[in-house]
Amino acid sequence: MSTTTEQLNPGRTDAAPMTAHYPEMAGKVAVVTGAAQGMGAVFASGLATRGVSVVAADINEEQVVATARGIGSELAAQSLAAEPGRMVGMRADVTVPADHEKLAERAVAEFGRIDFWINNAGIFPFALAEDISPEQIGATLKVNVEGVLYGAQAAARHMAPGGAIVNMSSVSALRVRKGRGAYCTSKAAVAHMTESLAVELGDKGIRVNAIAPGYIDTAMTRWVQDDPVALAHALEVVPLHRLGSPEEVFGPLLFLLSDSARYITGHSIAVDGGSRHV
Ligand SMILES: NC(=O)c1ccc[n+]([C@@H]2O[C@H](COP(=O)([O-])OP(=O)(O)OC[C@H]3O[C@@H](n4cnc5c(N)ncnc54)[C@H](O)[C@@H]3O)[C@@H](O)[C@H]2O)c1
Repeated sequence: MSTTTEQLNPGRTDAAPMTAHYPEMAGKVAVVTGAAQGMGAVFASGLATRGVSVVAADINEEQVVATARGIGSELAAQSLAAEPGRMVGMRADVTVPADHEKLAERAVAEFGRIDFWINNAGIFPFALAEDISPEQIGATLKVNVEGVLYGAQAAARHMAPGGAIVNMSSVSALRVRKGRGAYCTSKAAVAHMTESLAVELGDKGIRVNAIAPGYIDTAMTRWVQDDPVALAHALEVVPLHRLGSPEEVFGPLLFLLSDSARYITGHSIAVDGGSRHV
């Protein structure tokens, strides 16, 4: 059985909501991709409870619309801001530049502006270098790399000065492991692209940062959680000896978007329980 946060930190669980609150964020507007489930859904919900209106986007239209509705219906009860943000869910395939334009147009039409853009959608194929197919390689680079670049382009065109972009990289950008060649390459590209974008978009007053999560408890890591050997290995190599929760990635995201990070750009924050060192 895996070690839980409750065991290591009595009185707390991995999923306990982050209590950090930046009141200056209320009234702002965010686009979050890959928001039907996993971290994207938690990001959308957490932002909305802090008064940020959110366009939640995903290739899975049915699920993202349902997720946005579900978050919307619980917002009033959970709001940390005087007024919770509003939510819309819409389909967007991040590999299609025109879909990003539609997201930007929807955000401006519904909420009047764009302040934050979170390029979160991603895919993870597990395959050894000699087995991975051209289709898997192509899809990984298209979603994880091109998807981030097209998102940043749309954000840069439509965002107000002072805006912030956060890209989802991975600990795989910092540490390579077997079976993840295409994924590691794509996430290293995201980390490097984040630096390039920060240098260019600084002219517009837009900050660009990345988050590099380690093992986080979502559908993407279900295969690790369902395989006792893989799980034991993961818990061994993570110095904190547990998987992280999406909430625990949301905290650093919130900080990066906030005014407290207004002089931080071109940076990747690892949220990995220390696993990049092992
Ligand atoms: N879970 C982890 O341990 C982990 C670790 C490091 C990095 N990440 C990264 O964090 C991000 C979120 O991961 P997650 O764990 O929440 O994954 P997840 O699989 O739970 O969710 C990913 C979402 O992205 C959507 N998506 C996939 N392709 C898309 C496309 N072409 N256009 C639009 N949406 C698309 C999926 O439908 C899904 O809703 C990803 O970029 C992932 O690579 C995850």
